[in-house]
Amino acid sequence: MAEIQTHEYDVIVVGAGGAGLRAAIEASAMGARTALVCKSLLGKAHTVMAEGGIAAAMGNVYSEDNWQVHFRDTMRGGKMLGNWRMAQIHAQESPDRVHELEAWGALFDRTQDGRIQQRAFGGHRYDRLAHVGDRTGLEMIRTLQQHAVHKGIDVYMECTISRLLKDGDRISGAVGYWRESGEYVAFKAKAVVLATGGTGKAFRINSNSWEYTGDGHSLAYWAGAELIDMEFIQFHPTGMVWPPSVRGILVTEGVRGEGGILTNSDGKRFMFEYISDYFRAETAETEEEADRWYGDKLNNRRTPDLLPRDEVARAIVAEVKAGRGSPHGGVFLDIASRHPADYIKRALPSMYHQFKQLADIDITAAPMEVGPTMHYTMGGVRVEPDTGAATVPGIFAAGECAGGMHGANRLGGNSLSDLVVFGRRAGIGAAEYALGLGSQPVLAEADVNAVTSELEACFGNDGGENPYAIQSDLQDAMHMLVGIIRTGAEIEEALGKIAELKARAMKAGATGGKAYNPSWHLAMDLRSLLTVAEASARAAGERTESRGGHTRNDYQETDPEWGKWNLSLSQAADGSMKLEKTPLAEMPAELATLFEEAK
Ligand code: FUM
Repeated sequence: MAEIQTHEYDVIVVGAGGAGLRAAIEASAMGARTALVCKSLLGKAHTVMAEGGIAAAMGNVYSEDNWQVHFRDTMRGGKMLGNWRMAQIHAQESPDRVHELEAWGALFDRTQDGRIQQRAFGGHRYDRLAHVGDRTGLEMIRTLQQHAVHKGIDVYMECTISRLLKDGDRISGAVGYWRESGEYVAFKAKAVVLATGGTGKAFRINSNSWEYTGDGHSLAYWAGAELIDMEFIQFHPTGMVWPPSVRGILVTEGVRGEGGILTNSDGKRFMFEYISDYFRAETAETEEEADRWYGDKLNNRRTPDLLPRDEVARAIVAEVKAGRGSPHGGVFLDIASRHPADYIKRALPSMYHQFKQLADIDITAAPMEVGPTMHYTMGGVRVEPDTGAATVPGIFAAGECAGGMHGANRLGGNSLSDLVVFGRRAGIGAAEYALGLGSQPVLAEADVNAVTSELEACFGNDGGENPYAIQSDLQDAMHMLVGIIRTGAEIEEALGKIAELKARAMKAGATGGKAYNPSWHLAMDLRSLLTVAEASARAAGERTESRGGHTRNDYQETDPEWGKWNLSLSQAADGSMKLEKTPLAEMPAELATLFEEAK
């Protein structure tokens, strides 16, 4: 270990998207020696792929909006499986976090009378998404990054964390490598906040970039922490479907929030055929009514194009399957017939440029072709709602890699608010924990060496399995067998393939040297990709019902009995994955009545 670069902190935050930045800002403000470690460059995060807005019940467009309605929408959108306390904290604190972002320099779009503008999004009863055109995540990252840098937080970029280490039962630090040089690095830390985002790169068609390999989920799991809700995968209904090179890139829900409509190859607005009983009371059932909703802010029944994402994604799959899809296997999304060109360019500038440059389509004149893309992992590290503490002392998690907040399905816009609400809380939780510990836990040399030996082993596999081929096979298996609609037999098949891929991954070889070697990096990332893929498949096989982002063709109904349980996963003593049913926390009566009032 003597030759390994070593740093010492109270708190290290792994991941520099919205949650990681917000956690680091808070931990540092509390006086904890804090470092931010990220696999990519600062600011290069999936946060930017939440384009259409940040959900917060500020009541700027509908004065009737308040945290109770936001809480209720979130719980119902998550098919009542979310953690009620997280949903409550989230709904109560989001407005403050938006105002804080504004105070730190974020430039939100404004209403006529100068307040922060809010737009409609799926499953939100009122126009609730504060936004910056269709670049909201980007503006948030810019703001948080600038704030963090000015606070003097130490930032380690292009540094992949491979394992967390423990001293007894509590965290003592982390070991990883510099992507550029291939040199190893150790961090002594009293607490680690995991904020690494999701698992999108385990699926063939996804909106994620290369970093999203389930690192935080896996680091926590390998260190003994529990994961929950891994069966719930969000397929955003609208990703690009053409040309093939850009398949999966996000088309913001903000297009529909601005009045855009989904149509099939017959030119029909098909979403009216797919209104579930669950949302019928608040959904317009005719085109005239839906259009009145858009024109008349006093009509609270929403258009079915803005049903929650799980419902819209399934409807698109059904239309394509019925032969009513677009030429390239999606459906049409039309904003051109709804607004003048200059309005579209102002409200949705990125969408305009994205389609012009990548697909040679002018969205102010022609419809887009869109289809579902894997966008978000509802499942994650089980955390204590108020502090973000995982089930292993010293591990904290926030943002997409934490589970519980969104239940079976996340509402659009609730990710950006989740990041800042729970990023801040995890930062406080980690700092309080670390500052309360007396001495620095011991980072054992033998443990560090074991990690570096594992990392090194890949070079001995020179000429072995190709890591890119393994990832590609995994993506196909997950897409085909654990995708939007699954069956028990398909999931079993997927688990068989994952087992084979695990064996192949053990032989994955890196060619060349350690300095900037992407095949080596991917060979290492395969361990986390396969861990999260197995977790999702195991939980999906166990849950014999359909709910939110988990649709079983062999169990099509939502089963009230399953509504009482989360599925939790942890590593058994023999290294296998242990699955347990754990009861949902009981909602207090004063919150439960909110659902009665809505009826
Ligand atoms: O459609 C979007 O702009 C994505 C937002 C989100 O995932 O929250």
